[in-house]
Amino acid sequence: MRLPALHYNTYAMTQPRFAIAILAAGKGTRLKSKLPKVLHRIGGQPLLGHVIAAAGAVVPASDIFCIIGYEAERVRAEIAPLGTRFVEQREQRGTGHALMQCREALADYGHVLVLSGDVPLIRPETISELRDFHMARSAAMTILTAEPENPFGYGRMVRRVANGQVTDEVEAIVEQKQLSAEQERIAEINSGIYAFRVVDLFARIDRLSTDNPHGEYYLTEIASILERDGRPVVAKRAGEAAEVLGVNTRRELAMLDSLLRQRKTAELMDNGVTIYKPETVVIDAAVTVGADTVIEPFVQLLGATSVGADCRICSYSVLENTVVGDSVHIRYGTLADRATVGEEAILGPYARLREGSQIGPQAHIGNFVETKKIQLGRGAKANHLTYLGDAEIGERTNIGAGTITCNYDGVNKNRTVIGANAFIGSDSTLVAPVTVGDGAYVAAGSCITRDLPADSLGITRPELQVKEGWATRRRAKMEEEKRQRERQKQEEQSKGNQQQ
Ligand code: UD1
Ligand code: MG
Repeated sequence: MRLPALHYNTYAMTQPRFAIAILAAGKGTRLKSKLPKVLHRIGGQPLLGHVIAAAGAVVPASDIFCIIGYEAERVRAEIAPLGTRFVEQREQRGTGHALMQCREALADYGHVLVLSGDVPLIRPETISELRDFHMARSAAMTILTAEPENPFGYGRMVRRVANGQVTDEVEAIVEQKQLSAEQERIAEINSGIYAFRVVDLFARIDRLSTDNPHGEYYLTEIASILERDGRPVVAKRAGEAAEVLGVNTRRELAMLDSLLRQRKTAELMDNGVTIYKPETVVIDAAVTVGADTVIEPFVQLLGATSVGADCRICSYSVLENTVVGDSVHIRYGTLADRATVGEEAILGPYARLREGSQIGPQAHIGNFVETKKIQLGRGAKANHLTYLGDAEIGERTNIGAGTITCNYDGVNKNRTVIGANAFIGSDSTLVAPVTVGDGAYVAAGSCITRDLPADSLGITRPELQVKEGWATRRRAKMEEEKRQRERQKQEEQSKGNQQQ
């Protein structure tokens, strides 16, 4: 995972310090999973990773506090490389209780933006708009809200009505289970994303009650506490309702994964990538693709894959953590994992590049060829039915059909080194460790167990015997045997008939 370039530099240095706290301590009971909710993945990244990426575009990672609790060590291990800080909530007694744990960590900050580790589609622009709105209104609490198609399950916004007009001031947030029949009709939901003035929050957070169906400290109750104290609580609608959708069930996980991937394909198409049937392709959030590349239906580009410009990636190809140069043609059903591919190379159909495969520019890897930890030189070719593992192959060398590098002796992996402009005849085995010099030939069907000098021929082949007329004699003999068997069968049948 990588954090995007920072946008916060434009924010005046004179402004009070903003921290971002991300609620990520919950178990996610409704997912029915051993894995903590925030580590479930959409778009190839944990939910929490997406939230941190958005937060990291607004404040530096050192001002981001992840509140972790359920399986804290597992979450910390996965997230620590992103450089955020952590606050532990040992018992998960609600979203309000989670924030109570941050009192010390946030003491030096003027304001805190609270994000939810299970609301992953939030965009950096929305977070900074919330911050700016909160500052402009001098609010104690600002709540980001939305009107999703189905508000069921979310806390609802009760706004203040003054002179018959609905204002942007908030009276309370009411959780689903506590809604009155009338409040159930409220379409506007609490996104679980807020901005707080730190002193206002911590002066009152101890007044949260556990007087609710779950017996938890609900952070949402702070809205009505602040409001009663005459501190300004305001609401701001998010531009796009999808941004604030939360993941609580596996169905929601699948839905947000699709939404994220739709966003990704739309962004790539806007940047000049052709994608046919974009609803069928699976492209992870971190993937990059150059302009004029064509992606056919049912392609998957996963992890930190990057594809250059002017490439064609044919259907059913799956590239994971793979770097592809410009003008590469990847034919049907090619699989690549942790590979690099130079410009103008041609792969597939049905090639399999495993970890550490470095395919040079203009090289060809054809059908049913498997590679692992190899360097294939510029313009070298292995076009059919071959295994190349732990090998270095020079420029323009041709590897014939059915060639195998025997890299494993039962204990160790050994290397095969083949020079430039060499020719390996079909159906050859190269028993590593072994070296084939520049320009050397290996005769088809050979088993190479010793090094071959440059420009030599390696051949291990029994003398060919040619037996003139052998096939004719063989066929005649077989015909005669067949006739004899038929005669025998007839005799046995006529004997049987006489006996009856
Ligand atoms: C919460 C809000 C609800 C809002 C919704 C938006 C409350 C009481 N309700 O409900 O108004 O509409 O989010 O998605 O806040 N967490 C902790 N520690 C805890 C409990 C939860 O860190 O003790 C974390 C969870 O990991 C999760 C987030 O807080 O990332 C929200 O918790 P969740 O249980 O999903 O709250 P919702 O029921 O979705
Ligand atoms: Mg939730």
